[in-house]
This record gives sequence, structure tokens and C-alpha cells, in this order.
Amino acid sequence: MAMDERDPLKGYRERFLLPRTDGIDCVYLCGHSLGLQPKTAARYIEQELRDWAELGVEGHFRATNPWMPYHKLLTEQTAELVGAKPLEVVVMNSLTVNLHLMMISFYRPTKKRHKIVVERGAFPSDQYAVQSQIRFHGFDPTIALIELTPRPGESCLRDEDIDSVIEREGNEIALIMLGGVNYATGQAFDMARITRSGHARGCVVGFDLAHAAGNMPLKLHEWDADFAVWCSYKYLNGGPGCAGGCFVQERHARAWHLPRLAGWWGHDEQSRFEMGPNFQPMPGADGWQLSNPSIVSMAALRASMEIFHEAGMERLRAKSISLTGYLEFLLSQNSSANFSIITPREKERRGAQLSVRVPQNGRALCERLAREGIVGDWREPDTFRVAPVPLYNSYRDVFRFVQRFAAAVG
Ligand SMILES: Cc1ncc(COP(=O)(O)O)c(C=O)c1O
Repeated sequence: MAMDERDPLKGYRERFLLPRTDGIDCVYLCGHSLGLQPKTAARYIEQELRDWAELGVEGHFRATNPWMPYHKLLTEQTAELVGAKPLEVVVMNSLTVNLHLMMISFYRPTKKRHKIVVERGAFPSDQYAVQSQIRFHGFDPTIALIELTPRPGESCLRDEDIDSVIEREGNEIALIMLGGVNYATGQAFDMARITRSGHARGCVVGFDLAHAAGNMPLKLHEWDADFAVWCSYKYLNGGPGCAGGCFVQERHARAWHLPRLAGWWGHDEQSRFEMGPNFQPMPGADGWQLSNPSIVSMAALRASMEIFHEAGMERLRAKSISLTGYLEFLLSQNSSANFSIITPREKERRGAQLSVRVPQNGRALCERLAREGIVGDWREPDTFRVAPVPLYNSYRDVFRFVQRFAAAVG
């Protein structure tokens, strides 16, 4: 296809392993759920397995990449990816764990100001996490939870409606905790604007970037978010269950007065092995670490982060806008009463993903296409999610998807 020929990033597809069905590469449009494996991931992992075999415990200090400070190998590139300073980011744990760690420190409810703002359609794990934090502090989620809801007949939230909730209820809001990109609708939020509105009313502002990290350019430091968390197995291609990421604004780097759940990996690295009884946290995001991390999981992530660093988020975003625009164009060319796109049309208000509402038999359709090697995914009650990912998807993938989808949906 001519558009693929002209694509300056076309070579990156070759650097990933595409799943195959009946000997043919799948049309894999599911990077919003699980990103593909970089071909170099095995080499990165094998290095650690070899060092473990040859060095045993000495690998902590003498491995090719010593395991003690291994997470730091990811710090610079992670900071670059999310628009942060190295002090502000750490790769650790998984998303929901990190969200709880952040809320323990940054959700400080008082009688007067104890509410949390979330999206009504937030990912269930976020809902469970914020509700449990509210209860943990002795408050009632039916009162303390403010759920942002689209207007009747609409699927996405309007910026002005988010602003007006913050304006109206700001004095009682302790924490605004939104997704950067909503998992179901694909709507991207204006994080700079939300942070500004929240701070103007004295609220803490945090983001779940599960669907934003590696998908959109982020400027967390400049936007002044208080904290953010994300996972690395979607657009970041770190592999299933890969270690997640965490951002803590520089101004909180030495906020020793904040409560935090402590573990030895967050202790000052100079004295960690003196094994003293008193916790002395590292400054910055590192100080929220609990345990020594899974090196194998981080090794796979290193392979992918190298690729992101090389390709550059701005270039990836330019291709992503074009690919998703092409997908939207082809779907609109094949429009039918049997489906509608619920993701916003404006490129600033979405990432790679389009969410297609298929009210009748959509799940069966999604499963049928998957058996043919056309892979998106289904979210109840009626949403078929597809995301052309600029690192490894082509315009031809998008074309093949729409051809099959349009024929099947009728
Ligand atoms: C938006 C969002 N938040 C939270 C999670 C939960 O992530 P984890 O299982 O890594 O805690 C997911 C997982 O898909 C997600 O999409």
C-alpha cells in the first residue's frame, strides 16, 4: 500500500513478533490490551537468565547489568516517555498496587474535604481502589465518590462539565483521579486543564495512564499532576503482568511528612543493607518502592523502551493520528445502522483506539473475527475496541480490518 511505503516508521513492524493464524500474520489491533513482543525481548531476558545461572546471588552486584540498581536502567527513558524528571518516576509493582500506594500518601481526607472524583465509566480496578480507600478512612463511598457522567445520549465527558463539577464541589474534593485515556470510550482527557482546575480549588490531582502511556505524548511535570500510575503491558509492550510505572511530582520528592507504606526497596540505597530498623526513604518516586523487583519482567520492558526511545513519541503520535484517522475514514465509508463510533472525533481527544458500539451480537462478531486472525477486543455491554498501534500496525492492517468488519457487521 502506498501509505505504508511512505511511512517513515514502517521498519519498526519488523522488530515485533506478530501472532499468526493459519500461517498468516494477524491483523493485531489489540495493543490497548496487550502489546506485542519486541524480537529483542528474548535477548534481554536471556542475559539475565545467563547471569543468574553463572553468578547466582552475586548477580545482584556482578551481573552484566547488576540487579540491585536494575530498575534505574529504565528511569531515563521512562521519564522521557511521560514528560517527567528522572527523580519523578520509578518502574515498580503493578498499576493497582501503585494506585493504592499513591492514595495512601496523597488522599488525605478530612471531614470537610474527603471526596474523590472519578469517571463513572472508570476501569473497575480504579473504582474498587478508590472505594476501598474511602472506606479505609471511615467514609462512605455513596457520599464521598463523585462520578463524572456523560450527558444523556452522549458517551464521552465534556471538558466544561468536568470543570463545572470541580468548580461546584471543589471545596469538598480531596482527590481528582481520572484516566488519561478512558479504557472503554478511548476518550483522552485534557490533563493540563484538569490539573489546573483541580489545583485552583485545592484538590490533589492524579491520573491512571494505563491507556495513555506509550499512546500519547505526556508532559506530567509541566502539567503539574501530583501523581500518576500506569501499566507497561499495553502500548508499552512489556509483556503480560509487566512491572508498572509511577510518577510523583518533584515538589513531593521530599515530603517526608506524608504517610506512606514503606518497604526496604524504598529505603535510602546507601544504607539499605545496614539493615537498620528505621525507615529512611529515598527522595523522589524511588522512595515509594516496597520490594526488590522482578528483573525478568523489567528486562522485557527494557527491550521495548529502547525502541520507544529510538522511534520518539512525537513521531509515533504523528503516525498514530494518521492511522486512526484512516480507520475512522474507512469505517465512515462503510457506515451502517449496526455500528457507531463512540470515541471523540477530534484528534486531541483520543489516542490510537477507536471504540465501536455494536449493539447487536457484537461479542460474537468480535470472536468470529478473532478466529480469522483479525484481533480487537470486546468490552461489555456493547463495545468493540480496536487500536492501530503506530509501532507495528500498518495502513494495510487497518484496511483489512475494515473490509472484514464491514462485511461481518452488515
Ligand atoms: C485503565 C486501567 N486501570 C487499571 C488497570 C488494572 O491494571 P493492573 O492489573 O496492572 O493493576 C487496567 C488494566 O487493564 C486498566 O486498563
